[in-house]
Amino acid sequence: MKKKLSSMASSFIFFFVLCFTLCLAGNVSYDSRSLIINGERNLLISAAIHYPRSVPAMWPELIKTAKEGGVDVIETYVFWNVHQPTSPSEYHFDGRFDLVKFVKIVQQAGMYLILRIGPFVAAEWNFGGIPVWLHYVNGTVFRTDNYNFKVENEYGYYEGDYGEGGKRYAAWAAQMAVSQNTGVPWIMCQQFDAPPSVINTCNSFYCDQFKPIFPDKPKIWTENWPGWFQTFGAPNPHRPAEDVAFSVARFFQKGGSVQNYYMYHGGTNFGRTAGGPFITTSYDYEAPIDEYGLPRLPKWGHLKELHKAIKLCEHVLLKSKPLNLSLGPSQEADVYADASGGCVAFLANIDDKNDKIVEFRNVSYHLPAWSVSILPDCKNVVYNTAKKSFSAAQGVTSQTALVEMVPDNLRPEKASKALKWEVFAEKAGVWQEPDFIKNGFVDHINTTKDTTDYLWYTTSMVVGENEEFLKKGSHPVLLIESKGHALHAFVNQELQGSASGNGTHPPFKFENPISLKAGKNEIALLSMTVGLQNAGSFYEWVGAGLTSVKIKGFNNDTIDLSSYNWTYKIGLQGEKLGIYKPDGVNSVNWAATSEPPKMQPLTWYKAILDPPAGNEPVGLDMLHMGKGIAWLNGEEIGRYWPRKSSVHEKCVKECDYRGKFMPDKCFTGCGQPTQRCFQRVDRVADPQILEILDPVDLKLFVNLKPIDSAQRPLYHVPRSWFKPSGNLLVIFEEKGGDPTKITFSRRKMSSICALIAEDYPLADRKALQEAGSKNSNNKAPVHLKCPQNTHLSAVKFASFGTPTGKCGSYSEGECHDPNSISVVEKACLNKSECTVELTEENFDKGLCPDFTRKLAVEAVCS
Ligand SMILES: *[C@@H]1O[C@H](CO)[C@@H](O)[C@H](O)[C@H]1NC(C)=O
Ligand SMILES: *[C@@H]1O[C@H](CO)[C@@H](O)[C@H](O)[C@H]1NC(C)=O
Ligand SMILES: *[C@@H]1O[C@H](CO)[C@@H](O)[C@H](O)[C@H]1NC(C)=O
Ligand SMILES: *[C@@H]1O[C@H](CO)[C@@H](O)[C@H](O)[C@H]1NC(C)=O
Ligand SMILES: *[C@@H]1O[C@H](CO)[C@@H](O)[C@H](O)[C@H]1NC(C)=O
Ligand SMILES: *[C@@H]1O[C@H](CO)[C@@H](O)[C@H](O)[C@H]1NC(C)=O
Ligand SMILES: *[C@@H]1O[C@H](CO)[C@@H](O)[C@H](O)[C@H]1NC(C)=O
Ligand SMILES: *[C@@H]1O[C@H](CO)[C@@H](O)[C@H](O)[C@H]1NC(C)=O
Ligand SMILES: *[C@@H]1O[C@H](CO)[C@@H](O)[C@H](O)[C@H]1NC(C)=O
Repeated sequence: MKKKLSSMASSFIFFFVLCFTLCLAGNVSYDSRSLIINGERNLLISAAIHYPRSVPAMWPELIKTAKEGGVDVIETYVFWNVHQPTSPSEYHFDGRFDLVKFVKIVQQAGMYLILRIGPFVAAEWNFGGIPVWLHYVNGTVFRTDNYNFKVENEYGYYEGDYGEGGKRYAAWAAQMAVSQNTGVPWIMCQQFDAPPSVINTCNSFYCDQFKPIFPDKPKIWTENWPGWFQTFGAPNPHRPAEDVAFSVARFFQKGGSVQNYYMYHGGTNFGRTAGGPFITTSYDYEAPIDEYGLPRLPKWGHLKELHKAIKLCEHVLLKSKPLNLSLGPSQEADVYADASGGCVAFLANIDDKNDKIVEFRNVSYHLPAWSVSILPDCKNVVYNTAKKSFSAAQGVTSQTALVEMVPDNLRPEKASKALKWEVFAEKAGVWQEPDFIKNGFVDHINTTKDTTDYLWYTTSMVVGENEEFLKKGSHPVLLIESKGHALHAFVNQELQGSASGNGTHPPFKFENPISLKAGKNEIALLSMTVGLQNAGSFYEWVGAGLTSVKIKGFNNDTIDLSSYNWTYKIGLQGEKLGIYKPDGVNSVNWAATSEPPKMQPLTWYKAILDPPAGNEPVGLDMLHMGKGIAWLNGEEIGRYWPRKSSVHEKCVKECDYRGKFMPDKCFTGCGQPTQRCFQRVDRVADPQILEILDPVDLKLFVNLKPIDSAQRPLYHVPRSWFKPSGNLLVIFEEKGGDPTKITFSRRKMSSICALIAEDYPLADRKALQEAGSKNSNNKAPVHLKCPQNTHLSAVKFASFGTPTGKCGSYSEGECHDPNSISVVEKACLNKSECTVELTEENFDKGLCPDFTRKLAVEAVCS
């Protein structure tokens, strides 16, 4: 399973240099306990943010949000194929590819950087980050001891497949890296025979049991996957925040020193950068910062509190050796005590079902199932990984939020009244001159060399007048076999049907009745790639495209067209002329129509727009379109495809954080388009799309129905791509859709919420005090913080007492302090952040002593 998992797993990188931005001044070394930077030991929290998966305008805020989340280090791959896409003599380091600018922003934030140089990166990135042209440099074999190819990542599981060449190659890679004398240590991840000159590291959902090969190396976790990537046609995987926190706490409990979230901000696979096949344009990854750049609450906040708790322990953890003791059959403590009297304890309950009361140093502690409590003084719990909204003794208050995608109709340019769509029809088959004619089939990737997704395979056949099906009005059946990835079949310019493989099985068969006429018939088959293979052994040899074409239902049975002459055309005319770019858009005659054609295949649409109102991040809603590519002002938004997953997949209503996580443990969205967001239909008259950020809480939104209108496939369009006016939106639709239904949506944090509870009813306090409990009833405050540049403008709900419900749907319980709203307003109104103490000065002293009292707040920022 482990092997399978890793081959599915995200980025497998084998190799990366720890290049701290303090490089110039810094001296980075290590010993068995930790990295040592300028003589100081550190426990490091690292966050993967890939520069080409967002835009420069987002970078400062992403990095700031990571820093606020308690992150010390930003980690990124270097993506070779965006820097040299077409040939070795061409370089691109501008816009999203400006690595130097990205690194400087990290430096300015006072953070460290881990650079994973690749060039092979996997990373769910097209062709694993290697430019496709390298495959066609004579004599190149990837991932082995080959003169043209000496770069690697996450190689351990594949090395054996390459025999002796693999072994030599791994040794060479380490030797090459170390000989660069960069002054910082080198790491190989998932490398089981790493030489002593480099540090081997762990990539997994859990790495607490990981041990480096050599005892002088620190324990480093290069990829902790806080969610998972998605493939078109699959349901949506979720990893609960409690389990992510559990894995991190366990890692530091067991002597870990550097932990990196892969991803902390996943972002977007813009254009055709998605790997595959079939990886979605969204690379959200359910990461602590969402695709649009907003903190994902409560995940981001829950991990921030965890990082704070770990930092409280850092000094003692780095200065002492742990002593482990059993607290029960599945409960254990690790205690770190230093010479100066400092003491840190981690109490873990690995039982995946039952909570447990444990006794530690004569005090009882309640440990929820599958959780770790952190005690920076060996007495008081400052954090428990399973307690999200509720507080432990000292209180962990994680703010939650409601994020809505507010629909915003496409706005025509100020001058004109109605939005005007113009269209350009792409021909089915060869446009202008054919590229070549060949008997039989060529490999798709060998032919396009990935300069485009599209390759036309065309031929013609003559149908005799005496064919029975002509008389009966019946239909012969077209049978196609393809290595992948997708296909639209046209006969005489009419779309007959489509087919595609899936993420686990790219090859597919097409079988569809077709309309043929007597005489000559033009057969035009549009073969498509949907992201090239990005990982595995010998992955560069995986092909795509047609292998067999037959038609059955003739008088003489089946005709095999496979050995016919086929005429080939690479790409689309609109692509070739660059009609999606401002400087190419006028190279064809666009037809202006009052009503654009709907459900018409092979159609280019364009419109000139004003940007959506406000300054929130923007999504493009493509629910009513079929499949294709979208651009704004020449920037590639990416592939869109509202492809649905099977209703027969195993989806869950509730996501149980307890127990070992696997990507298929907690699926939602069965039977819905993979790339989509949820709609909430209860609230106001004007239906708004609301998405609760943490899917774990979805169950609590009783009104959140997976109804048809909820399936809104949204594609991120960075704000910075918009001009104040005159924006060119271009869509290429392959199989047919309704462009009049395309809308933008603004991603808005509509409410922020917090809920905190006391640990036990007031009435129990005395009894507990008499029993000598050191647990004092919770006095942790409620903390609210508005998104950047906004202030708390209204308190929608506040109740001290026994409120029920969740963010967006709180209601007062039987016990309610009527002053709650005014207390919160007084503390918070017009502030960007505020704190409300749960003190008896603020709230009714004697209120419902027999209940565990809570304070719930929902507020609006603007
Ligand atoms: C770097 O630090 C290590 C360990 O702290 C020390 O042994 C070494 O001399 C230092 N090197 C430089 C160039 O300062
Ligand atoms: C590629 O290399 C082989 C073996 O060295 C040689 O025979 C062949 O001609 C080369 N092909 C090209 C296109 O350079
Ligand atoms: C302590 O850790 C060691 C090494 O992992 C393990 O073998 C042992 O069982 C642990 N002891 C307890 C009491 O958990
Ligand atoms: C726990 O209680 C026992 C018995 O009362 C006592 O001997 C021991 O010192 C206590 N341990 C700690 C850590 O307080
Ligand atoms: C992918 O396609 C294969 C072959 O058609 C099929 O057996 C498999 O169930 C499909 N998997 C998914 C997740 O749809
Ligand atoms: C692509 O072309 C190369 C060189 O002609 C050939 O070796 C390889 O098998 C082809 N790939 C596929 C998938 O057909
Ligand atoms: C059917 O096949 C026979 C024998 O191969 C051939 O003589 C005949 O012309 C074919 N008929 C048609 C309609 O293609
Ligand atoms: C197939 O194409 C080749 C090369 O263009 C040509 O010589 C041949 O005549 C064609 N065959 C048929 C049956 O059209
Ligand atoms: C908040 O700001 C508004 C508008 O600036 C002002 O009218 C209101 O009095 C302020 N409220 C408080 C509590 O400061």
